[in-house]
Amino acid sequence: TTIGGLPVTVEPTTSPLTDAARAERMRDPGFGRVFSEHMLTIRWTREGGWQEARLTPYGPLALDPATSALHYGQSVFEGFKVYRGADGSVAAFRPEANAERFRASARRLCLPELPVEVFTEAVDLLVGHDHAWVPSAPGQTLYVRPLLFASEPELVVRPSEECLFVLTAFVAADYFPRGLTPVTVWVADHFVRAAPGGTGAAKCAANYAAGLAAQAEAAEQGCDQVVFLDAVERRWVEELGGMNLLFVYGGDVPRLVTPALTGTLLPGITRDSLLTLARDLGMEVEEGRVSVEDWEADARSGALTEVFACGTAAVLTPVGRVRREGAEWVVGDGDTGPVTAALRERLLAVQTGAVPDEHGWRRVV
Ligand code: PLP
Ligand code: COI
Repeated sequence: TTIGGLPVTVEPTTSPLTDAARAERMRDPGFGRVFSEHMLTIRWTREGGWQEARLTPYGPLALDPATSALHYGQSVFEGFKVYRGADGSVAAFRPEANAERFRASARRLCLPELPVEVFTEAVDLLVGHDHAWVPSAPGQTLYVRPLLFASEPELVVRPSEECLFVLTAFVAADYFPRGLTPVTVWVADHFVRAAPGGTGAAKCAANYAAGLAAQAEAAEQGCDQVVFLDAVERRWVEELGGMNLLFVYGGDVPRLVTPALTGTLLPGITRDSLLTLARDLGMEVEEGRVSVEDWEADARSGALTEVFACGTAAVLTPVGRVRREGAEWVVGDGDTGPVTAALRERLLAVQTGAVPDEHGWRRVV
């Protein structure tokens, strides 16, 4: 066989787990702890391009301490989910969109761009082998994690001559343990996630490292997540550490506003999907900008009725309360609003195949 034109070697595990042992491991999976039994790797060299793909048992990588990515952070990743539908069908949600974003992230980090067909057919191969790992328990999914990093063992600061693509998948429970309970967010006034011209729009490892101190500050303040503001004026809302934000101005025809893709935030695929579904449901949709001052004023006046965060891991999570240095306010009545609930239900229905796939978003595996 081949994937996207590359030859493939398949060396499946010689000691597969029993159904009972797998079920036991899947019982309390957390996030990114319980991986399926196989992984797929492809090496790239500047001289030879993409090499053969190898499907092997999941296990550790042997890395030279001089591996460039460990020192200089030349590393990008992706994340999307595979859902088991009520009818038993198994489908990945919009992996082609993740493949495109993976290429864009790679370009920004001077990494090689994996062809879209190699990406998607690698997903088909891995998920096909590990079909039994796609959970049927409510709230559980198989989360697919593509990774590409500079694997050259040399410490000159320049784009690596060798890279490794690693595709793994893990069982994921709901990202927020409290489910649809609204989260409280902390507005970071002293930390910046991304500046114009930087890497904010790329899904690169360094963005997450850079956000940790702000996330820790949020936790110290008793908040679940951190809201990042723009780097220049420090007033325009960008996104959370791992999710995009949508603002709902309720009314007969609800109006949704989300920060435009200015280059300093991640172009979320959940965000894009929700903008489309909201239009389908007759809502008004606007990509614009929201200042933190207006967030507070409009929440206090009641014009802003709901705010929610969205992303692959969290799906869609209401934001009930906002805190920043010297201020605190509630959005709506602090509970899950009707637009948030309707959009979440609609998105999950599409992802699980409970309603017709009008936009061609499900890739059946
Ligand atoms: N913003 C950041 C920083 C993220 O890490 C993610 C998660 O992937 C998102 C937004 C949401 O993107 P997506 O909906 O594609 O998962
Ligand atoms: C997502 O998959 O939604 C993410 O935000 C990735 C994050 C958990 C690092």
